[in-house]
Amino acid sequence: MAMNATTRVRVWLGSVAAACALLTGAGAQAQTEVKIGYALAVNSHYGAGAQAWADSVEKSTAGRYKFKHFPASALGGERESIEGLQLGTVQALIVSTGTLSNFVPEVGVVDVPFLFRDIGHARRVMDGPVGQDLIKKFQPRGIVALAWGEQGFRHLTNAKHAVAAPDDFKGLKIRTMENPVHITAFKTLGAAPTPMAWPEVTGALQQGTIDGQENPLSVIVSAKLSDVQKYLTLSSHVYAPTLLIVSPRFWNKLSDADKAAFLEGAKAGSAAMRAFVDDVDAKGVATLKAAGMQVNTITDKTPFQKTLAPAYAQYETKFGKELLDRIAATQ
Ligand code: PAF
Repeated sequence: MAMNATTRVRVWLGSVAAACALLTGAGAQAQTEVKIGYALAVNSHYGAGAQAWADSVEKSTAGRYKFKHFPASALGGERESIEGLQLGTVQALIVSTGTLSNFVPEVGVVDVPFLFRDIGHARRVMDGPVGQDLIKKFQPRGIVALAWGEQGFRHLTNAKHAVAAPDDFKGLKIRTMENPVHITAFKTLGAAPTPMAWPEVTGALQQGTIDGQENPLSVIVSAKLSDVQKYLTLSSHVYAPTLLIVSPRFWNKLSDADKAAFLEGAKAGSAAMRAFVDDVDAKGVATLKAAGMQVNTITDKTPFQKTLAPAYAQYETKFGKELLDRIAATQ
């Protein structure tokens, strides 16, 4: 049957509309939301890592995955978020090993004070056989660990006085992570360690229920701790890696190609975190001084290591001399 011009246009418009409906339907159906949580703001090292991870996956999967960010502990403290990830209520997290060692105690070895000589040493250990062996310990505990990220070396802040020698720790009420290795170290130094989840820390510092806390410059700057703390001691007492992790419930449903995309993305996230840490380690002290903090640096670690001798004996029993020596021997 011959069609006139108006009918032909109607038929053509109808086909275009049907094709659009099909495409929209297919697109909506194919896009999977990935909830990603982390403890600090989007403009922190955590936000930088999460954004790089999201950008990489969204690009390499042509938008089939869309990350939704839950920054600033929006999913609760790190421990609660990890429990959520194990249950599958959140798909991806970036969290500190300080908290993860409650789930995989072996990872607590990286929390041993003054274990790493410098950031290069720490990164080589995490990227080398020791770090890769540790990563394998996560899956049997209901966590899929994809890549090591980073916060930097932890330093001490407090509201009372400059800390230059082990004796200066005496009596200071220091918030620590809920981490047995950290708690042992601060007890041995003579401080009064107060384990506390991160979301409560700023309030506790404001109210004076604790005198100080310890975290890398990346956190001290991002969380504006200079508003509530006068003294910053560059103690570099513990290296703080993070892990980019996903829920096994989510991971097990991914195709091999999509698993590869998430792994590549996590590596991009890790690189972004390290770049952020390098930048804040270069500029952060000036920022904090400008905000009114009084800063001192511990250049000789020996008196602190001597005071920590009883703690080192405990760490050796817990993690094994062989592993500690392997880390120290990594070039
Ligand atoms: O101190 C902590 O609890 C952690 O370093 C933080 C700030 C939550 C980042 O992982």
